[in-house]
Amino acid sequence: MLFDHESFDGHETVVFAKDEASGLSAIIALHSTALGPAAGGTRLWRYDSDQEALGDVLRLSRGMTYKNAMAGLPLGGGKTVILAPDHIKDRQALFAALGRAIDRLGGAYWTAEDVGVGPADMAAVAGETRFVAGLESGTFASGDPSPVTARGVFTCLRVGAQHLWGSQDLIGRRAAVQGLGHVGQHLCHLLHAAGADLVVCDLDGKRASAVAKRYDASVVAPDDIVHQDADIFVPCALGGILTHESVAGLPAKLICGAANNQLADDSVAVQLASADKLYLPDYVVNAGGIINVASEILRIEDHAWLEGKLEALGATIKEVITKAQARNGNTAAVADAIARGRIDVHDRLAA
Ligand code: NAI
Repeated sequence: MLFDHESFDGHETVVFAKDEASGLSAIIALHSTALGPAAGGTRLWRYDSDQEALGDVLRLSRGMTYKNAMAGLPLGGGKTVILAPDHIKDRQALFAALGRAIDRLGGAYWTAEDVGVGPADMAAVAGETRFVAGLESGTFASGDPSPVTARGVFTCLRVGAQHLWGSQDLIGRRAAVQGLGHVGQHLCHLLHAAGADLVVCDLDGKRASAVAKRYDASVVAPDDIVHQDADIFVPCALGGILTHESVAGLPAKLICGAANNQLADDSVAVQLASADKLYLPDYVVNAGGIINVASEILRIEDHAWLEGKLEALGATIKEVITKAQARNGNTAAVADAIARGRIDVHDRLAA
């Protein structure tokens, strides 16, 4: 059930939104609004069960609280999952129904795109509520967050390189990139421009070949990517790629990528640290997307604000690395502790 669910973490609000007419079944979870209104995207996914969807939304919304805190945004953490029906009759109607559910929360939660959801879907949500971002038009529209996400990951990756190899220079470093979607392709561009050698994979073979051609990369089968003899592993597909098994066969020293929830569980972070691998916590390095979305939510006009926040990600990851050195190298635990500290301090000041 909900309160004893393993991923329930004192979430403030969990809403089960059902709309028979459009076929909408969604769960909206607000983990924390301590730092501001909860913000986090909407994911459309085929779940095997309601329990699986609940676990996903509870984990993802908590992750957004930590991500927003680490990015220094005045936003809390929330997330929506839509349980994809067998057949979507009318996508516009489905997302309009979601918009009404979000509007009933009165501004406690803002949404944007996540996996399986695009700008046209957000436009349908926007027809019913103003608490939506990631739009393509409008005064503060922030558009596709992926290039900004890639830039944030890249900034952090260079900080990691500096720590491991004494230089941010990536010339001749070999990077294994898993997943060549929106963010993965932008990252390949940045890595290639910085002189890194690339080995890539994607479930979509055609996409992998096209990217490989563009960036002079070699292509390997998806199952082989973690085993590549590379300096840097760049996960940009789905979560759960860092398991005890995959980490045991991972040659890369530095792990830094955009995918959310890369660690199968917290104990993998301990294994990474004891194997002397530098894991840069996903929710810190991939915050560029939410920073981009936040500029829309917060109606920021000054472009320097976004650049400053991206730069700050580099400083934050450096703080995580430095503190982890003094604590068995477990960067994930350190990032969690810093994020919780930022939220707790705010709670104390507000009390
Ligand atoms: P996307 O859906 O555009 O791309 C994902 C790519 O990964 C697809 O090309 C897919 O075929 C491939 N893929 C899936 N499973 C794979 C596997 N096992 N092996 C190899 N390739 C596989 O997604 P996007 O937007 O590029 O996001 C990538 C990751 O980054 C996701 O985990 C997302 O949650 C996360 N993220 C994305 C942000 C953004 O701004 N788009 C922001 C923060 C996190």
